[in-house]
Amino acid sequence: MGIVSETGIQPIDPASVPQMRLSDGTAMPAIGLGTFGSDSVPADAVAAAVRGAAEIGYRHFDCASVYGNEAAVGGALEAVVRGGVRRDEFWVTSKVWNDRHEPDAVVASCEQSLRDLRLDWLDLYLVHWPFPNFHPPGCDVSARSPDARPYVHERFMRTWAAMERLVDRGLVRHIGTSNMTVPKLRLVLRDARIKPAANEMELHPHFQQPELFRFVVDNGIQPIGYCPLGSPGRPERDRTPEDTSPLEDPVILNVAEAHGVHPAAVCIKWAVQRGQVPIPFSVNPRNYAANLRAAVEDPLSEDEMRAIAGVDRNCRLIKGQVFLWKDGQSWEDLWDPDGTITPP
Ligand SMILES: NC(=O)c1ccc[n+]([C@@H]2O[C@H](COP(=O)([O-])OP(=O)(O)OC[C@H]3O[C@@H](n4cnc5c(N)ncnc54)[C@H](OP(=O)(O)O)[C@@H]3O)[C@@H](O)[C@H]2O)c1
Repeated sequence: MGIVSETGIQPIDPASVPQMRLSDGTAMPAIGLGTFGSDSVPADAVAAAVRGAAEIGYRHFDCASVYGNEAAVGGALEAVVRGGVRRDEFWVTSKVWNDRHEPDAVVASCEQSLRDLRLDWLDLYLVHWPFPNFHPPGCDVSARSPDARPYVHERFMRTWAAMERLVDRGLVRHIGTSNMTVPKLRLVLRDARIKPAANEMELHPHFQQPELFRFVVDNGIQPIGYCPLGSPGRPERDRTPEDTSPLEDPVILNVAEAHGVHPAAVCIKWAVQRGQVPIPFSVNPRNYAANLRAAVEDPLSEDEMRAIAGVDRNCRLIKGQVFLWKDGQSWEDLWDPDGTITPP
């Protein structure tokens, strides 16, 4: 019998949660709590989940300025520290948004996130998307910004140099990328003074990105997997008729039945055992507790891991249409499908 948290759920000892080792030896908790409320979950509900999740053993939180809730999440993190968890015992990631890629704006954006999150440093700061661009929160997929720009490597490296200076100043411990492709990362690895410690990318059983996954692992970059459950609560704008759900996949359902767990737990186990860090979002204490528990106990067998490797459908859910920079393009162009960077 352990202590029962305020949510009535048996906490999990954070020391029992697996850790991933970054290339510099730093340990990152192998599962985090996502904090993007998909434009529908209010900031105070997300903040309550951060606090509740910390109480039951989460020590990793995935934030971003564009989620519009860092000030509320910061209140929760402050309460976590007041409750006795030391700052160096939990991991916080934040991200610079696409309209803040200019070097001065990168610094100002990081300082604002630190103020909002009430932290002295971030464990990881990511460039949220490689495209400098602005579109209003909640806009439709057909929205196009007149300021939309393609990936221009020299420009990205100016942003990256500002990220590196944040490390020099001690404001962030690690820097990384998100929504990148192999050809873009090749150039960044060639030109960066401080290599990306992690790359955040969509990863779930129906979108395993085997080539990019292998590339980042081989280059000492920790993959962090977003939408690990196939994002069942994602906004309408991110849904198309072709999308499939890993939570309804017959192989996942079979494995879930064999383990007596929800299919979501199978997605989490598969992610952690494969070597990526899933960051499932939930504001439901039963669900976020089950997700953490899934990372800790009753692992999948090698046969089950192999069976899940076989259900990949190359089904990207977050296609990024709003980042397209000229007429007549398809969202695939954002993802460099032929292995070279799509020309401007
Ligand atoms: N870098 C990027 O560009 C990027 C892009 C997208 C997302 N992200 C990050 O990744 C995080 C996760 O992605 P996501 O929120 O889109 O998708 P997700 O984590 O795959 O799915 C979240 C949804 O699943 C439900 N859920 C969670 N645990 C469950 C369980 N055990 N059983 C049943 N349902 C469960 C949640 O509902 P309840 O709240 O009801 O549990 C919520 O609707 C985000 O919050 C964000 O931090 C990053």
